Amino acid sequence: MTDLQSFICDLPKAELHLHIEGTLEPELMVQLAERNGVTLKYATVASLREAYKFENLQDFLDLYYAGCSVLLFEQDFYDLTWAYLLKAKANNIVHAEIMFDPQAHTSRGVPFSAVIGGIYRALADGYEKLGISFRLILSFLRHLTPEDGFKTLAEAEPFRGWITAVGLDSSERDFPPDLFADLFEKALEMGFLTVAHAGEEGPPEYIWGALDLLKASRIDHGNSALEDPDLVDVLGIYEIPLTSCPLSNLKLKVIQKMTDHPLKEMLERGIKVTVNSDDPAYFGGYLNDNYIAVADALHLSKEDIVRLVKHSFEASFVTDGEKRNFLARVDEVERS
Ligand code: HPA
Ligand code: ZN
Repeated sequence: MTDLQSFICDLPKAELHLHIEGTLEPELMVQLAERNGVTLKYATVASLREAYKFENLQDFLDLYYAGCSVLLFEQDFYDLTWAYLLKAKANNIVHAEIMFDPQAHTSRGVPFSAVIGGIYRALADGYEKLGISFRLILSFLRHLTPEDGFKTLAEAEPFRGWITAVGLDSSERDFPPDLFADLFEKALEMGFLTVAHAGEEGPPEYIWGALDLLKASRIDHGNSALEDPDLVDVLGIYEIPLTSCPLSNLKLKVIQKMTDHPLKEMLERGIKVTVNSDDPAYFGGYLNDNYIAVADALHLSKEDIVRLVKHSFEASFVTDGEKRNFLARVDEVERS
């Protein structure tokens, strides 16, 4: 390992763009399939890994939803989340803001309470035993109707205190943010913050829509932002963070090679960009791997890394006091 790579590993970090279902490693998938009597199209760990070659977002999503079919009971969601937390600990993640896709499960007859119950119980244990603080983000699937989203929002109501924000994910093309303006308005009225995937495969207009119509506090991905100088200005002036996911972008062919990744240009243009792992079990790396891949390809300096890591805390949904504590911990490691 180079000095910079060990520096990356040693720094405390926050992860802000992570789909908990995307942390389902083939080993656990096969184990849960057996435990729950579910038949998978790819039944072995090796054949699953072999299948993880994607041409685009939809290609990946087809496998991601198929993988979700093994998650049936509260304990499955606990085991999934706990496995991620152990990886997070090994990556020096001290704060995680985790998305979950309830509709991927309730559509299969799994109760909302089993999904959120298992995830939340593991997160609470992770805070107590591993010292990882957390927030939960309920993500709506944009290939489903807004009506389905309203139904999901109603199911979330009894768990209001466990959820910080709502998000928007799944197939971006042909599912612009405008479709979900009313749903997000209702979520905002209920006191949730909002985030949205935008500009991963979609145009800058979808980022504008996420900001103007969905009132997104952060944009997930945001790759296409650089195509629109006015949008770059707005993101900079209002300090709207982008949660970038380098290995995801490479695996889903949003970029053709890592040296094409827009992260460094985003930094240089004053955007509060962060590094995240998205769906690490499918994209070949957890958070440190993402930092290292992008640092190597774009020749990032130690100062760039510190800025990115500080952005991860500044862009998080914790209180200002908590942010100050986290930033002090970064300074401490930087000085040591
Ligand atoms: N993009 C959109 N939807 C998703 C993703 C993603 O990267 N991961 C899981 N759902
Ligand atoms: Zn994502």
